Amino acid sequence: MARGPTLGLSGDGPNGLFARDYSSLVARAEDASSLLDNGRTTEVQWDEYSLLLRGQRIFLWSGEFHTYRLPVPDLWLDVLQKAKAAGLNAVSVYTHWGQINPSPGVIDFDGFRALAPLYEAARKAGIFIVLRPGPYINAETTAGGIAHWVTSQVAGNLRTNATDYFKSWQDYIHGIIDETSSFQITADGPVIAVQIDNEYSQNSRTAPYFQALEDVYHNSSIVVPLTYNDPGEGKNFVNGTGAVDIYGFDSYPQLFDCSNPDKWNPVPTNWHDYHEGTNPSQPLYFPEFQGGAFDAWGPTAPGYPNCRVLTGADFVSVFYKALWAANVKLASFYMFYGGTSWGAIPFPGVYTSYDYGAHLTESRDVTAKYSELKLQGLFLRSSPDFYKTNWIGNSSTGVVKVSNPGALVVKLQNPDTNATFYIARHADSTSTGSTIFNITVPTSAGTLTIPQTVSGIALDGRESKTIVTDYTYGSSGTLLYSTAQILFAGTIGTRDVLFLYGTSGQSHEFAVNSTPISFPTGVKGGPVTVVDVDDSLILFSDVPTASSFFNPVLASGGPLGNYWGLGTNSSVLVGGPRFVRNASLSPDGATLALQGDLNVSAPLVVIGPTTLSAVTWNGVSVDGDTAAASNISAVGGIFVGQLTLDSTDDIQVPELTGWKFANSLPEAAADFDDSNFTLADHTKTNIVPGPAFGDGRVLYGCDYGFCENIVLWRGHFNATGGETSVNLSINGGQAFAASVFLNSVFLGTAFGNSTNDRNAIVEVDQVYNFPAGAVTAGADNVITIVQDNMGLDEASSVVSEKSSRGVRGFKLNPSGHFSEWRVQGKLGGYTDFPDRVRGVMNDGGLFGEREGWHLPGFDTSSWVSRDLSEGLPNKTAGVGFFVTTFDLALPSGFDILLSFNFDGNSAATDVPYRAYLFVNGWMMGKRVANLGPQTKFPVHQGILEYNGTNTVAVALWAMEPVKIAPTLNLTIDTILQGGPGAVSTNNPTWIELRG
Ligand code: GAL
Repeated sequence: MARGPTLGLSGDGPNGLFARDYSSLVARAEDASSLLDNGRTTEVQWDEYSLLLRGQRIFLWSGEFHTYRLPVPDLWLDVLQKAKAAGLNAVSVYTHWGQINPSPGVIDFDGFRALAPLYEAARKAGIFIVLRPGPYINAETTAGGIAHWVTSQVAGNLRTNATDYFKSWQDYIHGIIDETSSFQITADGPVIAVQIDNEYSQNSRTAPYFQALEDVYHNSSIVVPLTYNDPGEGKNFVNGTGAVDIYGFDSYPQLFDCSNPDKWNPVPTNWHDYHEGTNPSQPLYFPEFQGGAFDAWGPTAPGYPNCRVLTGADFVSVFYKALWAANVKLASFYMFYGGTSWGAIPFPGVYTSYDYGAHLTESRDVTAKYSELKLQGLFLRSSPDFYKTNWIGNSSTGVVKVSNPGALVVKLQNPDTNATFYIARHADSTSTGSTIFNITVPTSAGTLTIPQTVSGIALDGRESKTIVTDYTYGSSGTLLYSTAQILFAGTIGTRDVLFLYGTSGQSHEFAVNSTPISFPTGVKGGPVTVVDVDDSLILFSDVPTASSFFNPVLASGGPLGNYWGLGTNSSVLVGGPRFVRNASLSPDGATLALQGDLNVSAPLVVIGPTTLSAVTWNGVSVDGDTAAASNISAVGGIFVGQLTLDSTDDIQVPELTGWKFANSLPEAAADFDDSNFTLADHTKTNIVPGPAFGDGRVLYGCDYGFCENIVLWRGHFNATGGETSVNLSINGGQAFAASVFLNSVFLGTAFGNSTNDRNAIVEVDQVYNFPAGAVTAGADNVITIVQDNMGLDEASSVVSEKSSRGVRGFKLNPSGHFSEWRVQGKLGGYTDFPDRVRGVMNDGGLFGEREGWHLPGFDTSSWVSRDLSEGLPNKTAGVGFFVTTFDLALPSGFDILLSFNFDGNSAATDVPYRAYLFVNGWMMGKRVANLGPQTKFPVHQGILEYNGTNTVAVALWAMEPVKIAPTLNLTIDTILQGGPGAVSTNNPTWIELRG
């Protein structure tokens, strides 16, 4: 076979175990003088093509992950290992100001708020981090991440250089800096960049704010570049005051309505031109590109399975390769893993699940789109020539000669090696039709029309392909061209390996020298066909088989030993299992130890070094060998075996029974003593807009320290007896509710709603009539309001993160005067809340929450027995707490994905109740049965104790006096044998927090 130029990608040592020092290689290859840096470190550089880390060019292929949405630090490594296995080399991480800095002067990086364990896990997995601390993050979280106290205590405009706003973020950003400095790449850590704020326009009010943030970083030990995420193509912060080191912009081409998931918007076509006209000396960077979509409350919300269709494997194929075609060399997919907006995390537009239809499910399981991402990620990892390409042109202007205008083909070429990449898709990017075409291209073997011997290159529906010419790989592999896709190209052990794949039923062709080798109808022979073993081992498979392969890295011992390229260039290919977490090879190259997950028994195929003779899976020797009578095993180094799933019959979870019940709304009684509640007597507020009507008193919970979850209001008046009604304007954000009582009498409920358009009801101005006899003349009467705060709005405007949650208007009819208003939210408010582990977002102000009924260890023995499905006694409107415990005895060595399911997952949306689900004290779900859509609430091990007693509490709010009969059960959704290892819990008990 023909031999090409040597490319410095082979591992050193007999089995390629030890990484080569690339700095010298790259220094030779690149003209160092053309590289840019920020003047603070040369370990992160860039030029017009790509980023370079420690002098090595990389394609930043990244996904978004919010650790605060997975409040179990022991599971972070699992997500990062899944990112790594998908071929990602980085994650992008928002941190949450409101969680870390719950009240003025308090900075808390403990538990799930910690950064050090994230950084350690990333280093262990070999994943870089672009840290995005905001202060504003958007992220479908309350106030866009701005600490709640700031929205009420700061008079100036948020996200400007207003002095009080400037002061408000200092502790938080300095805290971030302190936690992060020693984890920058310059200290062998994962952090390679820090983003300034998020999505903002640059003007005279905002630019000084950006500049002030940048000054703080520049006066600190943070040396990595500062980056930015422009909301689309706005040219913000490229130049001028507040300009960042590396500019990027985001794009969500399918937007966020998942109700018609097969209906696509087309691929935007101006990314390359925009980049050329905006920041041509920097690489083209998407700090966020659509990885899924969020979903809104409400009966029309389609749910996350639909979002995973809208942004499914075909979307990943067409749109992510469209990024390649625009010459993007840094991209991060928002979200890679969405997680859970538990407690008060959500902004009012989203429900508890933040699954996002992402590559991993909320339960951390892999998906079909994960597999497509992996195919792309492994190609990128295999193709260093692709990290430096010029955008040459496309077929629409004739730069690429294509036989069929139904195909659009873009040409990218490496100026140093001439390796060329043609990215093809349908000219109509939304087309579901079929197109066959060939391309006429210059190659080192002359101009060729390819394919040469088969019918053409097929695009069947929504797919995109990469056709390479003069592509080199491994120590000396060359590919003249290939219309088949590349899964892997590189060195395994001492042998160059090329693994190609293509769709069955289509024709594929490649040539290593001038002789084409074709697959007229896809696959020949077994699942993996050995095409050649002469100089390189060349393999071909169909797409499902290729998708089943992982390419775990063999780490070296060095500080960045698990980082592809920087720390190691050694890997093996492993096909069959659901997930391959880790691989390591014995020093003699004979035994490969694999860790991973199985959901079913599966055949195992390992393509390893020729020295390979045995494989272990999760510590157990695998039945199989490298000499089986298979067509692929004769070549050496290919191990074929069988992985067997142990019986999972004994893995079971109990029914939730034995519920105990207590009333949780004693406030809705005339004689309730509210003297401990906070007097709501402010007449000034920083929150805009101010009160709508009343007598000047400000009834915004956040002004009294009660910004999260349920807030109770008590308005006292001495009645004349002539009062007939109360008019209240209550604001809780989209999908909120508020129930109103006079003395002990239920008056009615205000229902917000939520829609995908912008007409959602966030505030209800309503008159509540007093039934005859409800008012007591000449005595104190009290209006009690229980209201749900759905979170504070997020917005790009400089003021509107201040949300007027509370009672914006109050008036007795025909007249009357409230002698006092009192307010109560979570115990201690945002300054003195006792639960520092679960944090400021966990609890609300329900009586049961204040008493700690949701906490493990609370003694319900004096409570009555009452099943959740019986609802509240006497069909009353109100709030009751249902509590029970259950034991789990789940085996180790498995990742068992559990969820709590309301109402048999029937999404009936006309039942007027909402339920707050507490699992071992953590508020893991808000079910809004009158709106939906969420019925299923995944809860991870680490919140759940898998070997011991668990407490589940449901605060049930019946919003109308009708029979409400919710059901709740715990289900096993998936059993994976293997798993992430030991997961610890930290669930403070009632004794610790209230005892
Ligand atoms: C982006 C924003 C993210 C997130 C996303 C939608 O514009 O930067 O924080 O809100 O939209 O999920």
